[in-house]
Amino acid sequence: MPDKITIAVSKGRIYDEAMPLLAKLDIVPLDDPNKTRKLVLETNQPHIRLLVIRATDVPTYVERGAAELGISGKDVLMEYNGDDLYEPIDLGIAKCRMMLAGLKDAKPITGRPRVVTKYTNITKNYFAELGQQVEIIKLYGSMELGPVLGLSDWIVDLVDTGNTLKANGLVTLEHIADISSRLVVNKAAMKMKNATIKPILDQLSEIVGK
Ligand code: ATP
Ligand code: PRP
Repeated sequence: MPDKITIAVSKGRIYDEAMPLLAKLDIVPLDDPNKTRKLVLETNQPHIRLLVIRATDVPTYVERGAAELGISGKDVLMEYNGDDLYEPIDLGIAKCRMMLAGLKDAKPITGRPRVVTKYTNITKNYFAELGQQVEIIKLYGSMELGPVLGLSDWIVDLVDTGNTLKANGLVTLEHIADISSRLVVNKAAMKMKNATIKPILDQLSEIVGK
């Protein structure tokens, strides 16, 4: 009998890009998260279910063992900073970059630069390594508005095509990190349910060419 496995994944971009990978392992959800209010989706594999949750909650569920596996953006994992997660596979999906950006026609900054971001830990660590003092202002979305409305000098956010920055008169200033989604595994489950989890990891590694 295979062990019961719960995979935590966020709705939207990561779900859309992760499902084709899981389908190659013959793991296919029985419901579409865009059409059901269910948050736990059974799959065609009776021992495997998907948990559809907020992107930022995936590490918490996996670290605490509520889910054995999860799929999470490196941005979320860097911000979360947990010790109790294995991160064995870069799935190469939902790729983008964590960037520092500012107004295209910015006036010179006087005093401590102000930075808006939802990634306060990443931003704090980045500037601490540079030895630069900044004031970090937490926002939960639409960071691009910060410099436009004079709330901040800079933003730290994800950039893919650059369209969002461009549409708001911003330009990239520094590259902070390359981002993609990773498979994360609960440490205890890795030992206790190894017979079921190991083949999933091996197959996924092969599929993504790692
Ligand atoms: P929440 O559910 O908390 O609102 P979110 O809005 O960050 O989360 P998504 O926009 O679906 O959720 O992003 C999920 C993940 O996809 C991010 O953590 C990041 O790893 C990746 N991502 C975000 N924006 C982009 C983008 N423009 N291009 C590619 N990948 C992205
Ligand atoms: C992300 C990110 C940027 C945008 C960058 O937002 O926060 O705003 O994508 O992508 P681009 O460089 O291709 O324009 P998302 O689309 O996830 O919106 P949300 O943060 O409001 O969920």
